[in-house]
Amino acid sequence: TSGGSDAAKRRAGESAAEAVTDGDVVGLGTGSTAAHAIRRIGDRVDSGLDVRGVPTSFASRELAVDASVPCLDLPEAVGPDGPGIDLAIDGADQVATGGEEDDALDPGGALIKGGGAAHAREKLVDAAADRFLVVADPSKESPRLDRSVPVEALPAGRTAVAEAVREAGGEPTLRRAERKDGPVVTDNGNVVLDCAFGEIADPTALSTTLSAVPGVVEHGLFVGIVDEIHVGTESGVRVEER
Ligand code: A5P
Repeated sequence: TSGGSDAAKRRAGESAAEAVTDGDVVGLGTGSTAAHAIRRIGDRVDSGLDVRGVPTSFASRELAVDASVPCLDLPEAVGPDGPGIDLAIDGADQVATGGEEDDALDPGGALIKGGGAAHAREKLVDAAADRFLVVADPSKESPRLDRSVPVEALPAGRTAVAEAVREAGGEPTLRRAERKDGPVVTDNGNVVLDCAFGEIADPTALSTTLSAVPGVVEHGLFVGIVDEIHVGTESGVRVEER
């Protein structure tokens, strides 16, 4: 959770929730912006919408249950006999706006996720969906990505992964829990290294590098999977197609 106003986040989340249609299977993202979408989908279920959600975290499943959105597990949804995922709605910690015409590495539409340590399951669900809708407020937008990239690592691999991150030009910090002595442990039982790379010139290349490191479960760079970005502002919603 960061930055923008709750009103702006609500506009973004509710706008994306309107894209859900009867019979859809919907990926339910994590974080305060996606939470607004989940609640709106719940309101629409109360008025008769037939939908099934695929949660991306413990937290989004709890919200879905509270909002009376029926849920499916990801393996059921995407198996050979599963219905698939029609669309996913998820937040982001940073959204690259790109847009410099002559830039061969235009990062427009690339995301950094994982501020809530949920990015491994978020990426599985968001990438599996036919359409991926990002919900954000203007505080998340930046021409280029420059926030730390969360890297989920096997606990036994944490020092080896940290070393590989340093070799790739990053500065890793083990994410520590606020109300517990020790590290944040993800829904999958792993640890998170927040890796500062400064401004990321080529998110695709960094994504490939990080994915290839033994012990990395998943990293928070989401490249080339976004279809729509719903940006809530103080007065309305801006929708961008990618
Ligand atoms: C969870 O790990 C993240 O990827 C979230 O999607 C991200 O932190 C967005 O959260 P907010 O909508 O609360 O900013």
